[in-house]
Amino acid sequence: MIAPERLNRISTPTLMPGSAPVIAGDVLLGLTRMPKSLPPKLLYDAQGSALFEKITCLPEYYPTRTEAAILMTHADEICGRLGQDVSVSELGAGTATKTRILLRSLLRRQCSVNYFPLDVSDAALQLAKDEVEREMGAVNVHPQIGDFEDLGFLKQQPSPRLVLYIGSSIGNLEHGEAIALLRNVAQHLSSGDQLLLGVDLVKDANVMHAAYNDSAGITASFNKNLLVRINRELGGQFEPDSFSHVSFWNRKASRIELHLESTRPQSVRVDALDTTLQFYQGERIHTENSYKYTIERLKDLLQCGGFEVEHTWTDPHCWFAVSLGVII
Ligand code: SAH
Ligand code: AVI
Repeated sequence: MIAPERLNRISTPTLMPGSAPVIAGDVLLGLTRMPKSLPPKLLYDAQGSALFEKITCLPEYYPTRTEAAILMTHADEICGRLGQDVSVSELGAGTATKTRILLRSLLRRQCSVNYFPLDVSDAALQLAKDEVEREMGAVNVHPQIGDFEDLGFLKQQPSPRLVLYIGSSIGNLEHGEAIALLRNVAQHLSSGDQLLLGVDLVKDANVMHAAYNDSAGITASFNKNLLVRINRELGGQFEPDSFSHVSFWNRKASRIELHLESTRPQSVRVDALDTTLQFYQGERIHTENSYKYTIERLKDLLQCGGFEVEHTWTDPHCWFAVSLGVII
């Protein structure tokens, strides 16, 4: 894991000046509709990325270590299925901690790798670049600060190309959004290019519930940090302690939901929006969904997204799956 304090120290854009996320539009739209909601990408300012790094090490949060174990066990086999002298891009790379497992294996097959990590979090990307370059001088890191909509950089690389979308981040998208994103990725690729997709699988509800309701309260802090971010970036006057972290398994929708619930009736001024928001006691802001897949639904997703499934790897408990798809 990367020390969370290192992410906290990076609070302004350091890679591409002027590309700081503009959150006002999303916040205004999300908090003036009923029911209130915010897009999960807003969870990842520098503090949010640092809290996510802590989450990945929690005993209850199984996805990261389970996926890391799959990658460690099968990295050479995965890399053996890739094109010769492949370039690597990654959607939502974060600090690229697990990606290094694959890059290490790839460097045993080719002399150098061009690596293009895309993320909205400049703090996480800066650390990804520092850590990958420190460990592997033969990897050239080209950070792309931006949204999943900003995929133009994929076209600038020669084939063969590998796109990584690991960490179950696709689970934070609605089903239609997930398919649209994969199709957009596919449109930027050519025949023979590949996608490695990591998804969390449906399992015992207690295991999933615990992962998003950890006893140390880190996930609660990660969720409430959204309010801290609105206070800092938009002159909001939220009192984070007057909202509670609510997370539960929605079996019908096959997703974990994260909400922030107002513990009392309250008015909250947000200066940059020139708005005062009203909350009734018990009113929730829906902040994140984390969809859990079955192997069948994972295969459907890849096919609907324009990829043919080459191979899928899981762990002994079938808690997580990593699937390699190819453009035909
Ligand atoms: N891939 C890493 C990090 C997962 S956390 C891992 O497996 O551990 C999800 C990452 O996706 C965060 O770093 C977040 O900043 C990024 N992210 C979320 N929504 C995004 C969006 N719409 N566009 C680009 N990056 C996004
Ligand atoms: C990034 N994403 C896959 C995480 C998840 O599990 O859905 C984000 C997260 N939210 C709370 N804990 C972790």
